[in-house]
Amino acid sequence: MKKWPLLAAGALMVAALCMFGCSSGQPQTATDGGSSSSSSSSSSSSSSNDTTAQDNKDAATDEIALITPGKLTIAASQDFPPFENLNTNGEVEGFEVDVMKAICEEMGLECNYLPTIKFDSILPLISAGGKADVGVSGFTVTPDRAKEIDFTDVIMDVNQGCAVKKDSGITSVDQLAGKKIACQSGTTGYEWAMENVEGADVQAFDEMTGAFAALDSGQVEAVIADLPVVQYYVLNAYQDCEVIAEMPTGEQYAIIVSKDNPALTAALNDAIAKIKANGTYDQLTQKWFGA
Ligand code: ARG
Repeated sequence: MKKWPLLAAGALMVAALCMFGCSSGQPQTATDGGSSSSSSSSSSSSSSNDTTAQDNKDAATDEIALITPGKLTIAASQDFPPFENLNTNGEVEGFEVDVMKAICEEMGLECNYLPTIKFDSILPLISAGGKADVGVSGFTVTPDRAKEIDFTDVIMDVNQGCAVKKDSGITSVDQLAGKKIACQSGTTGYEWAMENVEGADVQAFDEMTGAFAALDSGQVEAVIADLPVVQYYVLNAYQDCEVIAEMPTGEQYAIIVSKDNPALTAALNDAIAKIKANGTYDQLTQKWFGA
């Protein structure tokens, strides 16, 4: 698998009109008055005529406890392009969204995203149960989190990245000592900044949009977060900023599931293996991150 994805022009075009979550309060560039022809993102039930295959899927999913039968209810913080982001049509889109649609199709389930949820609320929500079946939000596998929830098999590899204003004169993370850094609360980026930047004033934001707005306005001197996301924000919205560093944290994303639902984790792992084996996963990697 590619480790340091750069965004393909195609993915940029798809995403350029629709980033930076509608919940952020940022001005949006939407110009359409309802002329969009984008199709709904939520329906993914199998169109297979093969009743035996469908029966098998139903038999497999029957044993799994789901919030709503026939649907996989998904919690996500939709501020995280290119993984999950709310577009101007109010649809969630991104690499992980496409992966979840493919997984749901394998499982014979409808893919049902809840409205965006603050990142640091998702894990408690999944662990408490009753609201969502899974959390899919660029969740890095960590031993601490694994005490609270179960992780599926890995669906993505990332490192941390750091962005600053181009005219800041800052060229390495060493120069951030004692400076203000914006991170998203509850993330591995926040932890990295706390542990690795001496005397830093690390400020926690609910959403990535807030972290970048703070950098843009001069409230902080750097943003530290997952590299593909930092790259995306800089390329698409903050061109007076630049990515100055990649920190090789070797993180891996997985889906989070309640510890009370091991059958669901097993079924998700099965579906992940299938979409990796049948080429779907590679197609989606290509679509969102290029060659
Ligand atoms: N990978 C990081 C973590 O697990 C950041 C994830 C943030 N996700 C989001 N959708 N905002 O902590």
